[in-house]
Amino acid sequence: MKSKKPQILYTEKQIQKMIKLMAKKINIDFPDRKTSKSLVVISVLKGAFLFTADLIREIKRQIQLEFVRISSYGTRQSSSGRIEAPLLILPNLTGRDVLIVEDIVDSGRTISFLKGYIQEQFHPTNLKVASLLNKKSRREVDVRADYIGFEVDNLFLFGYGLDSSEKFRHLPYLAYYE
Ligand code: IMP
Ligand code: MG
Repeated sequence: MKSKKPQILYTEKQIQKMIKLMAKKINIDFPDRKTSKSLVVISVLKGAFLFTADLIREIKRQIQLEFVRISSYGTRQSSSGRIEAPLLILPNLTGRDVLIVEDIVDSGRTISFLKGYIQEQFHPTNLKVASLLNKKSRREVDVRADYIGFEVDNLFLFGYGLDSSEKFRHLPYLAYYE
């Protein structure tokens, strides 16, 4: 049997270049006005931790960083259809500008749940989503990210924060198995 070889889909250089472009758009949409409060960046753990760390370093406005841990996945490679939220503690977001940072929008369940929850609880002034990856063809819930790094096919990816059975999150690039 041939052993599976990891293939790089996006290199570290490509990812970093994309982040600079995405941050440019975010900096235009969320300008730093003297009168405005900081931008609340909500990073969705675990997958978005590296993406968040790189993205916020390109954001010019003052930010407040928050973390939630929520997913619809478990450890399998397809959505369980159920939302798990082991950490969902947020400050009052009423009247705030909010940017959710996610690793990937797949079925759309995670982001749809989180957006709905924040909207309902707090009615923030502005609520946007930045996602490293978008798997449009797998969408089950009608939801879209406002900023998308890369559009990907129905391919299971790992690296740059994303895991394959909790492995490979530390890789600086995005890869898949051939
Ligand atoms: P959704 O709720 O189905 O949109 O799933 C989003 C979550 O599924 C992401 O935050 C990831 O944790 C996980 N996920 C989806 N596709 C992949 C993949 O290709 N690699 C690793 N994790 C994935
Ligand atoms: Mg995730």
